[in-house]
Amino acid sequence: MARENEIATHHNNCLSRRAFLLRSGMVAAGSLVLPLVPGLNGQTLAAQVAHYPRMFITRISTLERHTPVLFNYPDHQRNSTCMLVKLGARAGGGLGPARDIVAFNTLCPHMGGPLVGTYKPAEQVLGPCPFHQSLYDLTRHGMIISGHATESLPQVLLELEGNDIYAVGLLGLIYGRHDNLKA
Ligand code: FES
Repeated sequence: MARENEIATHHNNCLSRRAFLLRSGMVAAGSLVLPLVPGLNGQTLAAQVAHYPRMFITRISTLERHTPVLFNYPDHQRNSTCMLVKLGARAGGGLGPARDIVAFNTLCPHMGGPLVGTYKPAEQVLGPCPFHQSLYDLTRHGMIISGHATESLPQVLLELEGNDIYAVGLLGLIYGRHDNLKA
């Protein structure tokens, strides 16, 4: 019994990746009171927190499985083309009743190869990149499967309000930017 209680306590204390992503999304989209952190020479510094826009993308009722929807996020400047797709399979960070709706920036994080039009419904992957063949798993947060890239695709954090899907943040850096909010 003591062992069971210990396991249950441990489980409750663990933050699942999904919970982390959801909380990250809320943080990214929300307004925060900035915490103060210790800096050099004993002075305190305000932590820098990104404030992503909350942007309407599409309606969940209009989505068709395996039919990508292109949109721009977090702005309409260079490198902001993103793709939302209903995979038909549960995915990390997935939205909707089946947790299968995900969105990603479409520039390859290796050297900026264009990935629009490379979605493969049967495997739920994006790629191979036309430049150096990198392939990304959309069910696992855009994780690299093969190729030259070393980073995952930037994943768009999504939120559902009634029938409407919103983009509320990004995990990962868009290729060609040093700050996702500055093109
Ligand atoms: S730019 Fe895509 S693999 Fe190099």
